[in-house]
Amino acid sequence: MYDNNFALIQNYFDALDKAEGPRGGPYKRTEVGQFVPSPLLYLRAAFAHMLSLGEIDESSRFLDAGCGDGRVLALISGMHPIKSLGVEYDLEMANRSSRNLDRLTGLGAHLASAAVIHGDFMDDETYSKHGVRFQEFDVVFNYINNQRDIAAKVFNESPSGTSFWLLGAFPVPGFQGLVLERNLELIQEDPEVPDIQVNDVAGDVLPIYGPDDFLMQLYRKI
Ligand SMILES: C[S@@+](CC[C@H](N)C(=O)[O-])C[C@H]1O[C@@H](n2cnc3c(N)ncnc32)[C@H](O)[C@@H]1O
Repeated sequence: MYDNNFALIQNYFDALDKAEGPRGGPYKRTEVGQFVPSPLLYLRAAFAHMLSLGEIDESSRFLDAGCGDGRVLALISGMHPIKSLGVEYDLEMANRSSRNLDRLTGLGAHLASAAVIHGDFMDDETYSKHGVRFQEFDVVFNYINNQRDIAAKVFNESPSGTSFWLLGAFPVPGFQGLVLERNLELIQEDPEVPDIQVNDVAGDVLPIYGPDDFLMQLYRKI
C-alpha cells in the first residue's frame, strides 16, 4: 500500500516545484532561516536504509524540525506506517505543509498520521500547546537549518537512545554532545536513472568528502 505512494508524492511536489520555476524554484527566506526542500529521491533511499537497520519502525515517532512545505512528512508517513510531526516557524509555510498533506490525502495517498505545528522548534510551548512533548520523539530530523540549536536540544532534553538525523551537512564527531554513529553518503550514479545508492560508513571512520557529496548523519543521544 505504502510503496504506491512514492510516485504520487514525488509527482505532486515536482508539479509544485515546476510551478515555482520562473520565480527561482521552491525557496523562501523565513524569519529564522531558509526554506529549501529536501530531494525526495535521496531521502527515500536514506529512510529505507534506516528502516532496514531497525533505526526507525512502526512504533517510532518522527519529528521534522523545520518542516517547510511538509514533503518530508509526506514521505516518511506516506512510504512507511510511521507517525510524524512537523514544526515550522513560518506561518505561511506551516499552512502550506498542512494543505499539501490534505491535498495528497485527497488525491488518494495513504498517509500514516502526519501533523504540522506552527512555532519555534526550540520552544517547549510549541509542543505543549498541542499536547505533545519534544521528549516523545525517537527520531528528530533536520535539513540544515539551525541544526546546532536543535542538536543541542536533543542532547539536553531527549531521552537516551534518541537519534538525530541531519541531512546536508558534513559529519562532526561529538556534534553538540551527540555521538556520530553513521554517515550515509547518498549517491546517484547515473542522472538518467532514479536510483540512489547508500554508502553507509561507521561514525568512527571519517572519509574526506567533497562539496558535491550529499550526506545524512545519524547522531545519538547516549
Ligand atoms: C531547509 S528547510 C527544510 C524543510 C523540510 N524539512 C525539508 O527537508 O524539505 C528548513 C525549514 O526550517 C524552518 N526553521 C528553521 N528554524 C526553525 C525553528 N527554530 N523553528 C521552526 N522552524 C524552523 C525554516 O523556516 C525552513 O522552512
